[in-house]
Amino acid sequence: MSLVVASDAGVKAEAARRRTFAIISHPDAGKTTLTEKFLLYAGAVAEAGAVKARTGRRRVTSDWMALEQQRGISITSTVLQFTYRDHVVNLLDTPGHRDFSEDTYRVLAAADAAIMVLDVAKGVEAQTLKLFEVCRTRSLPVLTFLNKYDRPGRDPLELLDEIEAQIGLHPAPITWPVGIPGDFRGVIDRRDGSFVRYMRTARGATAAPEERLDPQRAAAEEGDAWHQARDATALLDEIGATLDTASFLAGSSTPLFVGSALTNFGVRHLLDAVVNLAPPATPRPDDQGFERPLDAPFAGFVFKIQANMDPAHRDHVAFVRVCSGRFTRGMTLVHGPSGRPFATKYAASVFGAERDTIDVAYPGDVVGLVNAGGLQIGDTLYDAEPVAFPPIATFAPELFASVRPRDTGRHKQFHRGLTQLEREGVVQVLRDPGGDPVPVLAAVGAMQFEVFVHRLAHEFGADVNLAPAPYKAARRTDQRTTEHLREVRGTRVLARADGTLLALFESPYQLQRLEQDHPEWCLDPVVSAGDMP
Ligand code: G4P
Repeated sequence: MSLVVASDAGVKAEAARRRTFAIISHPDAGKTTLTEKFLLYAGAVAEAGAVKARTGRRRVTSDWMALEQQRGISITSTVLQFTYRDHVVNLLDTPGHRDFSEDTYRVLAAADAAIMVLDVAKGVEAQTLKLFEVCRTRSLPVLTFLNKYDRPGRDPLELLDEIEAQIGLHPAPITWPVGIPGDFRGVIDRRDGSFVRYMRTARGATAAPEERLDPQRAAAEEGDAWHQARDATALLDEIGATLDTASFLAGSSTPLFVGSALTNFGVRHLLDAVVNLAPPATPRPDDQGFERPLDAPFAGFVFKIQANMDPAHRDHVAFVRVCSGRFTRGMTLVHGPSGRPFATKYAASVFGAERDTIDVAYPGDVVGLVNAGGLQIGDTLYDAEPVAFPPIATFAPELFASVRPRDTGRHKQFHRGLTQLEREGVVQVLRDPGGDPVPVLAAVGAMQFEVFVHRLAHEFGADVNLAPAPYKAARRTDQRTTEHLREVRGTRVLARADGTLLALFESPYQLQRLEQDHPEWCLDPVVSAGDMP
């Protein structure tokens, strides 16, 4: 069946202007600083650091709220929208930066690209690696920023090797540092071989002035630092570490930039790359693999649900990534899984001080729907032409706990809450079919358990006891492998409500060994498939 749609050239043009991406990094690599500097370079704030409280600067949301109040720009804790060079940039927050959670993964389902920020002194760190794995399952294009070059760090060539070896991406430096970490003068722009010299500004509060020099002048003025940088770029040319747009868009190479978010060195190059290199919103495949044209009627999917943002109202906000068509506030959509109408009359209007009202949105944008209690993560909403987008991938949990109600008289409340929070994707709930009735909760971050316990007590009136379960790793498995695993000590197979079987392992080394010894067994780190190729 072909879609009969009224063509809307405006939607395609708006989609082409969108750049929707997330920053992936290990805590302290500089994500917050870089985010703020993007706002500075986009002109959304006049001065960086001006609105940042000295204490509590870790509270990103409150920084953003303060920014919003003072500047009147559109910010939510989930997406930060600004314009740059006539493009609309949607920067999705990977939440729980410090307190990693499944939400962190889910946000990447709504992004079209990612920026991987590495601390030049530390290289590839654990959390970056985890987040990158998610990018890989989606073949997301990834730009890399080697940050903190203003202070001592590792040899950048060594870092390229590390990216290649640990992440499996071929780095293609677009800029290359002149000067060593800690004595950073500027970069060679490999596209034309010129030297871009940066100048510091007080506290990095305003854009760093740049001066472009031709190679002769750079050699005369920078001496050894220039020659060393030239030797390194000659080597990069030789080994073919140069930009290849097709392999970047396919998620197998990564354009790389060096700089310092603190002093603003290299920030503009990176933001320009978001516009010039990162892909715009493109048609999304539905669950049958057919692409929903950008100018088809509205369709989007829920990638995150935030409950109780406003404790006075117990609201649920569902964040929807627009995939096709034009969203206008007040339109009535269809909730895919139930076929019921879904009114957006109050959509995004109840945002108050924390959020902005969104009246119109286009592919690539994110809409927050308030009072969306009936929605679940992964649900599709559409207008006119039915469509269902594939489920959002979930990844192997790493933390496990068994859960029991404290007061057995509140069994009903406990089960109601458990079912609801499981549906919302707060934690994964695993059960032993025909065995021990005590469910095991599984999560990728400890904060998920905290949210679970809190919400169960406050929204459902069921206090619970969590007891750590002895497992350290999990993999999706199948019935055949389950038979084999029965013979293996220290493992257990449990099921989720959707029927997915998860094998739990008391030792990660044991899992490693089984993976090596039995490559034919089904032990998959992607627990349920999303829009994987
Ligand atoms: P995160 O969101 O990834 O966790 O990192 P964040 O931006 O909060 O940065 C972590 C620390 O690293 C901060 O220092 C920040 O100032 C510093 N930083 C970020 N980018 C750079 C850079 O390019 N060069 C240098 N030298 N430092 C950088 P802090 O001491 O924890 O906070 P603050 O007291 O400086 O605000």
